[in-house]
Amino acid sequence: MAKSKAAKALVFRCVSCGHVEVKWLGRCPGCGEWNSLRESTAKGDEGPERAGESFPVPIGAIDASEASRMSTGLGEFDRVLGGGLLRGSAILIGGEPGIGKSTLLLQVAASCAVSGRVLYVSGEESPAQIRMRAGRLDAVREGLEVFASGNLATIRAALDSLRPTVVIVDSIQTLWSDEAGSVPGTANQIKFCAQELVGWAKAHDSSLFLVAHVTKDGLIAGPKAAEHLVDAVLSFEQGEGDIRVLRAAKNRFGSVDEIGLFRMGPKGLSELLDPSGLFLVRRESGLPPGVAVAPVHEGSRVLLVEIQALAVPAKAGFTRVYSDRIEVARVSRIAAVLEKHANMRLSDNDLYVNVAGGMRLTEPGIDLAVAAALWSARTGQALPSGAALAGELSLAGEVRPVVQMRKRARAAANLGFGLVLGPADEYGSPDPGDKGAEKDTSDWKRVSDLGGALKALFGGTGPKATKGEKA
Ligand code: TYD
Ligand code: MG
Repeated sequence: MAKSKAAKALVFRCVSCGHVEVKWLGRCPGCGEWNSLRESTAKGDEGPERAGESFPVPIGAIDASEASRMSTGLGEFDRVLGGGLLRGSAILIGGEPGIGKSTLLLQVAASCAVSGRVLYVSGEESPAQIRMRAGRLDAVREGLEVFASGNLATIRAALDSLRPTVVIVDSIQTLWSDEAGSVPGTANQIKFCAQELVGWAKAHDSSLFLVAHVTKDGLIAGPKAAEHLVDAVLSFEQGEGDIRVLRAAKNRFGSVDEIGLFRMGPKGLSELLDPSGLFLVRRESGLPPGVAVAPVHEGSRVLLVEIQALAVPAKAGFTRVYSDRIEVARVSRIAAVLEKHANMRLSDNDLYVNVAGGMRLTEPGIDLAVAAALWSARTGQALPSGAALAGELSLAGEVRPVVQMRKRARAAANLGFGLVLGPADEYGSPDPGDKGAEKDTSDWKRVSDLGGALKALFGGTGPKATKGEKA
C-alpha cells in the first residue's frame, strides 16, 4: 500500500481531530479535547488518519454521516453510487472504447471542482485535447487540473502536492511504474499502480475514479485484477443509439440494482429523467407477433421494456437459443416450461430473444413476458396491444410473485397499458421511497399459472389444461 518504509516513528495522534504531537499531552492543542491523544505511527505527511482505521475507537464515536457523500453533478450517477460519491472511496469504471467514459468523468470532474480540487490524469489524451473537450462540455473550472501522464511516480508527486479531493485516472491501462518491473499494460503493472493509487486516496480521504477499457467479452485480465482493490465496480454500456446505461457490478456502499440512464448528445451526457417509457417501441398499428411488454423493476424504478422473440425451424437438428440481453439459460428454461406446461413444441426451433433499446435484463419478473413473446412468435398470433406482463415462472408453470407488483401496474397504466397481467399474490411491502404508493389504486389481472396467462392474452386459442403432450 501507500505506506513508506521510513515512516515507522511513533507519534501521538488526537482521536477527535487528528492533530499530531511527538510527545503525549493530557489535552490536545488542536481541538482542546482531554485525554484524546493516542499512540500511533507517523506516516510522513500522508494526511489525516481516520479513527477506527489506525487506532481502535468506540464504534459510536466514528463519524460516518451520509454528509460525507458528495454529488457527482449527475443524479443518475449518484443513484448508481448509492446516493452520491463517498469520500475516500475508489471506483472502477469499465466500458468499451468510445462509449463515453472520458466524457462522463470530465463532466463529473467539472462538477466536483466547484466545491473542491479535482485532478484529471490522462494517459490517453493530450492536455490540449482534454481542454477542447472540456470547452465543448462546458467543463472548464478553476479547481480542475489536468495532468497528462501515465507514470505512477510523477502522478503520486502531483497528488502529494495538489491534494485533490477527487482524482480521476484515465485509464489504468496507461499507468506504469518502474517498481512493477514489466511492460505497461500488463496485469502486474495495472494491479500495482491501482493498489498504490487506491492507497493514496484512502489515506487522504479523496475519491478515486479508475477508468478501464474493456472488450465486449467483459473485463480483461488487467482491470479484473483491480476489481477487488476498489469499493465499486461500474460498467458503462451502450443502449440503443445515443442511450448509455451505467450499472454497478459491485458496490460496498450501495445496492447493485440501480441503473443510471444517460443520453449522449453534442454537449456530452445528459440524464434521462423519466425513462419509464424509453424502451418501448411506438407503433401506429398493433403489435407484431413475437413481441411482449414487461414492466421491469430496476433498482427503485419501473421501466417498461419490449421483449422480442423469433422462432424458426432449427438449422442444425437441435435447438439453439440466441439471446444476449437476457441470459440464454433463462430463455431455455422458459422454453422448457412452455413445452411442458403449454403444449408448445419449441425443441425443433431456433429461438432468438432480444430486448428493444438494448437493455440487459436480469430480474426474475420478466419470465412471463418472455414466455408470451415466445408463444406469440411460435404461433404467429400477436399479443393484444396495451397488454403488459410481469411474473416469475416456476418450473411447474406457476406464475410466482414479484417485487413491487403494484408499482409495476401503476407504471404500466400511466403509460397507457390497459391490460396488466401479474401474479395472484403480492410480494413484499411497498417501497418506502415510493411517493405514489399511498393513493395508488392501480390493479392488474391476476393469473396463477402460465396456461391462465396465455388464455387471458390469446383467448380460446391459448392452451387448455396442461397435459404435457406436445402440439
Ligand atoms: P469518450 O468519452 O472519448 O469515450 P471513452 O473514453 O469511453 O473511450 O467518448 C467518445 C465518443 O463520444 C465519441 O464517439 C464522440 C462522442 N461524444 C459525443 O457524442 N458528444 C460529446 O459531447 C463528446 C465529448 C463525445
Ligand atoms: Mg477515453
